[in-house]
Amino acid sequence: MRVAIGSDHAGFEMKESLKEYVKSLGHEVEDFGAPSSDPVDYPDIGYRVAKDVASGQFERGVLICGTGIGMSIVANKVPGVRAALAGDVESARLAREHNDANVLTLGARLIRLELAREIVRIFLETGFAGGRHARRVEKIALGEAGKGK
Ligand code: RB5
Repeated sequence: MRVAIGSDHAGFEMKESLKEYVKSLGHEVEDFGAPSSDPVDYPDIGYRVAKDVASGQFERGVLICGTGIGMSIVANKVPGVRAALAGDVESARLAREHNDANVLTLGARLIRLELAREIVRIFLETGFAGGRHARRVEKIALGEAGKGK
Protein backbone atom coordinates (compact mmCIF):
# COMPACT_ATOMS: atom_id res chain seq x y z
CA MET A 1 0.00 0.00 0.00
CA ARG A 2 0.95 3.61 -0.38
CA VAL A 3 0.95 5.21 3.06
CA ALA A 4 1.22 8.93 3.82
CA ILE A 5 2.66 9.76 7.23
CA GLY A 6 2.87 13.10 9.01
CA SER A 7 3.25 14.63 12.44
CA ASP A 8 3.75 17.88 14.27
CA HIS A 9 6.75 18.45 16.54
CA ALA A 10 5.19 16.44 19.36
CA GLY A 11 4.88 13.42 17.11
CA PHE A 12 8.14 13.85 15.24
CA GLU A 13 10.17 11.12 16.96
CA MET A 14 7.34 8.61 16.81
CA LYS A 15 6.79 9.44 13.13
CA GLU A 16 10.45 8.84 12.31
CA SER A 17 10.33 5.44 13.92
CA LEU A 18 6.93 4.41 12.52
CA LYS A 19 8.02 5.47 9.05
CA GLU A 20 10.77 2.85 9.06
CA TYR A 21 8.49 0.29 10.65
CA VAL A 22 5.81 0.73 7.97
CA LYS A 23 8.48 0.37 5.28
CA SER A 24 9.69 -2.83 6.94
CA LEU A 25 6.15 -4.19 6.59
CA GLY A 26 6.53 -3.83 2.83
CA HIS A 27 4.58 -0.61 2.24
CA GLU A 28 5.59 2.49 0.34
CA VAL A 29 5.76 5.48 2.67
CA GLU A 30 5.81 9.20 1.95
CA ASP A 31 6.80 11.53 4.77
CA PHE A 32 4.87 14.83 4.88
CA GLY A 33 6.90 16.22 7.80
CA ALA A 34 7.39 17.62 10.34
CA PRO A 35 11.06 17.63 9.36
CA SER A 36 12.31 18.02 12.95
CA SER A 37 11.08 18.54 16.49
CA ASP A 38 10.95 22.31 15.93
CA PRO A 39 7.40 23.57 16.56
CA VAL A 40 4.97 23.38 13.64
CA ASP A 41 1.18 23.69 13.51
CA TYR A 42 -0.52 20.31 13.22
CA PRO A 43 -3.25 21.55 10.79
CA ASP A 44 -0.59 22.36 8.19
CA ILE A 45 0.63 18.77 8.06
CA GLY A 46 -2.73 17.16 8.78
CA TYR A 47 -4.53 18.80 5.87
CA ARG A 48 -1.81 17.84 3.39
CA VAL A 49 -1.92 14.18 4.35
CA ALA A 50 -5.72 14.08 4.55
CA LYS A 51 -6.19 15.72 1.15
CA ASP A 52 -3.82 13.28 -0.55
CA VAL A 53 -5.58 10.32 1.05
CA ALA A 54 -8.97 11.69 0.00
CA SER A 55 -7.76 12.18 -3.59
CA GLY A 56 -6.65 8.55 -3.75
CA GLN A 57 -2.92 9.24 -4.03
CA PHE A 58 -2.47 7.21 -0.86
CA GLU A 59 -4.57 4.35 0.43
CA ARG A 60 -3.92 5.15 4.07
CA GLY A 61 -2.64 8.00 6.19
CA VAL A 62 -1.03 8.03 9.63
CA LEU A 63 -0.98 11.31 11.55
CA ILE A 64 0.69 11.86 14.90
CA CYS A 65 0.50 14.78 17.29
CA GLY A 66 0.72 15.04 21.08
CA THR A 67 -2.71 13.59 21.73
CA GLY A 68 -3.87 12.57 18.25
CA ILE A 69 -6.92 14.76 18.81
CA GLY A 70 -5.88 17.80 16.79
CA MET A 71 -4.85 15.65 13.84
CA SER A 72 -8.12 13.74 14.05
CA ILE A 73 -10.20 16.92 14.02
CA VAL A 74 -8.27 18.28 11.05
CA ALA A 75 -8.33 15.10 8.97
CA ASN A 76 -12.05 14.60 9.49
CA LYS A 77 -12.73 18.02 7.96
CA VAL A 78 -11.61 16.69 4.58
CA PRO A 79 -14.44 15.02 2.64
CA GLY A 80 -13.66 11.38 1.94
CA VAL A 81 -11.46 11.02 4.99
CA ARG A 82 -12.56 8.82 7.86
CA ALA A 83 -9.94 9.41 10.52
CA ALA A 84 -9.80 7.33 13.69
CA LEU A 85 -7.87 8.18 16.84
CA ALA A 86 -6.70 4.90 18.35
CA GLY A 87 -4.94 4.34 21.65
CA ASP A 88 -5.39 0.57 21.61
CA VAL A 89 -5.23 -2.24 19.09
CA GLU A 90 -8.92 -3.14 19.21
CA SER A 91 -9.97 0.39 18.29
CA ALA A 92 -7.63 0.26 15.30
CA ARG A 93 -9.06 -3.08 14.19
CA LEU A 94 -12.66 -1.93 14.54
CA ALA A 95 -11.95 1.40 12.86
CA ARG A 96 -10.99 -0.62 9.80
CA GLU A 97 -13.62 -3.37 10.02
CA HIS A 98 -16.61 -1.17 10.85
CA ASN A 99 -15.72 2.37 9.76
CA ASP A 100 -13.39 1.73 6.83
CA ALA A 101 -11.12 4.35 8.38
CA ASN A 102 -8.48 5.53 5.94
CA VAL A 103 -6.50 7.73 8.33
CA LEU A 104 -5.15 6.68 11.72
CA THR A 105 -4.23 9.29 14.29
CA LEU A 106 -1.99 8.64 17.27
CA GLY A 107 -1.08 10.53 20.42
CA ALA A 108 2.68 10.40 20.86
CA ARG A 109 2.44 11.81 24.38
CA LEU A 110 -0.08 9.18 25.42
CA ILE A 111 1.13 5.82 24.14
CA ARG A 112 4.46 4.03 23.94
CA LEU A 113 6.19 3.34 20.65
CA GLU A 114 5.76 -0.42 20.91
CA LEU A 115 1.97 -0.07 21.21
CA ALA A 116 1.90 2.51 18.42
CA ARG A 117 3.67 0.02 16.13
CA GLU A 118 1.13 -2.67 16.89
CA ILE A 119 -1.77 -0.26 16.33
CA VAL A 120 -0.33 0.79 12.98
CA ARG A 121 0.29 -2.82 11.89
CA ILE A 122 -3.29 -3.83 12.68
CA PHE A 123 -4.65 -0.68 11.02
CA LEU A 124 -2.76 -1.48 7.82
CA GLU A 125 -3.52 -5.18 7.64
CA THR A 126 -7.21 -5.21 8.60
CA GLY A 127 -9.84 -5.11 5.87
CA PHE A 128 -13.25 -3.45 5.83
CA ALA A 129 -16.00 -5.89 6.80
CA GLY A 130 -18.59 -4.35 4.43
CA GLY A 131 -22.19 -5.60 4.72
CA ARG A 132 -24.24 -3.55 7.16
CA HIS A 133 -21.18 -1.41 7.84
CA ALA A 134 -21.03 -0.35 4.18
CA ARG A 135 -24.51 1.13 4.46
CA ARG A 136 -23.43 3.15 7.49
CA VAL A 137 -20.24 4.37 5.84
CA GLU A 138 -22.30 5.42 2.80
CA LYS A 139 -24.40 7.53 5.16
CA ILE A 140 -21.26 9.33 6.30
CA ALA A 141 -20.60 10.25 2.67
CA LEU A 142 -24.19 11.47 2.33
CA GLY A 143 -23.60 13.69 5.33
CA GLU A 144 -20.50 15.15 3.68
CA ALA A 145 -22.65 15.94 0.65
CA GLY A 146 -25.09 17.84 2.90
CA LYS A 147 -27.65 15.07 2.71
CA GLY A 148 -27.28 13.64 6.22
CA LYS A 149 -30.42 13.15 8.26
C1 RB5 B 1 1.20 20.58 20.55
O1 RB5 B 1 1.69 21.06 21.76
C2 RB5 B 1 -0.10 19.84 20.78
O2 RB5 B 1 -1.11 20.73 21.04
C3 RB5 B 1 -0.42 18.98 19.58
O3 RB5 B 1 0.61 18.08 19.37
C4 RB5 B 1 -1.67 18.13 19.64
O4 RB5 B 1 -1.69 17.35 20.80
C5 RB5 B 1 -2.94 18.79 19.39
O5 RB5 B 1 -4.00 18.15 19.37
